[in-house]
Amino acid sequence: MSALDDAVRFTFDGRDLTAAPGQTVGAALVTNGVTAWRGTRKEGRPRGLFCGIGVCFDCLVTVDGVSNQRACLVDLCDGMEVRGSLADDAGAPDSSDVSAGADPDSAEETR
Ligand code: FES
Repeated sequence: MSALDDAVRFTFDGRDLTAAPGQTVGAALVTNGVTAWRGTRKEGRPRGLFCGIGVCFDCLVTVDGVSNQRACLVDLCDGMEVRGSLADDAGAPDSSDVSAGADPDSAEETR
């Protein structure tokens, strides 16, 4: 029996990844080299694990369609679908464009 036989398989933003049994989602992401998976609301600064004990809420992810889960507290299970928000934010219109009534498509042209 090899270590791969015990590996837990999951996806992160559509990428197939594996981790060791018993890891949290946050630990599994860091083990796979993913250190930031969401951005702050105002400036989009990257966030991932910070406190690691469920206090700071920096590590929020969507797990199997349930949003706002703390990655540092959720035990990873085989087949989990984990999503961050950095990929979602990449094409999102700037909130100032939307509140001013600007067409998000025309704002895209000025970037
Ligand atoms: S890293 Fe702080 S709540 Fe998860």
